[in-house]
Amino acid sequence: MIVSLSGNPKVARNVSKLLHSSCMQLEQKKFPDGELYLRFPKKLDKNVVFIQSFYGEINDRLVEAYFAAKEARKHSKKITLVATYFPYLRQDKQFNPGEIVSNKIAAELASDAFDEVAVFDPHLHREGKLSDIFTVKATKLTANPLIAEYIRKKIKNPFIIGPDWESYKWAERVAEIVGCESAILEKKRISSRKVVVKLTKKIDISDKNVVIIDDIISTGHTLLEAIKDLRKIGAKKITCIAVHGIFAENALEKLRKAKVSVITTNTIPNPTSKIDVSPIISDYLKKT
Ligand code: R5P
Repeated sequence: MIVSLSGNPKVARNVSKLLHSSCMQLEQKKFPDGELYLRFPKKLDKNVVFIQSFYGEINDRLVEAYFAAKEARKHSKKITLVATYFPYLRQDKQFNPGEIVSNKIAAELASDAFDEVAVFDPHLHREGKLSDIFTVKATKLTANPLIAEYIRKKIKNPFIIGPDWESYKWAERVAEIVGCESAILEKKRISSRKVVVKLTKKIDISDKNVVIIDDIISTGHTLLEAIKDLRKIGAKKITCIAVHGIFAENALEKLRKAKVSVITTNTIPNPTSKIDVSPIISDYLKKT
């Protein structure tokens, strides 16, 4: 049985259709004081899969998932979480004294409530594997094959760019599947809203359709800086593709003003979500 939490009902419905399984939407409302009211409208099966995307009201969505899993524990034998977007992974070290390293704590919370976890394209830069932070079985899912398929169908003569070294896991991997050239830029982060991006080697993109690929678009500054650099060396048509479109602080409008196309998957539902990750989730669930 699929249990759809608030963050990604469409993907939950798609997955249940692909698996021919039932799908229950967890009911929820907010009390006047901000507390959550949660209710399972039907009886839970022995084996339940919660689908959640932890974006926007991140902390509410965490409480929703945690409380729902704790209640489900009374009725179900196996409770799995499929997080199409898992939060707090970018705070993965103490950048300044006293800072809380949130990624491990968020993973501990999920490990405490669920028997198994699957996370779509997790932001694991300093940790290599999900097992470094989760204590239950944790599986990494990736949208790379779907992004590659999108590029093959829609973009002729592509040249793929990764805007920072960490993005090679998406940019280079997708370029390998598509069979096209790629390059990785160098990024220096000054603050959460300021980055500097540099092209460090000579590339010829004169007759190419440039595709910038990253895991996350948050404020959009990484992409905007990369776009500036690529325009200087003659990039005309630029498409930005990301797995997770967070689009904080009007990032989408800013990118559209820079005259680029923006495409994301539906790990976070958006007007840009042209790539449906549901088949990857249903394949994973068939194997578990
Ligand atoms: C950083 O390592 C990530 O891969 C993304 O490049 C970053 O999170 C994007 O953030 P923003 O859109 O705020 O520049």
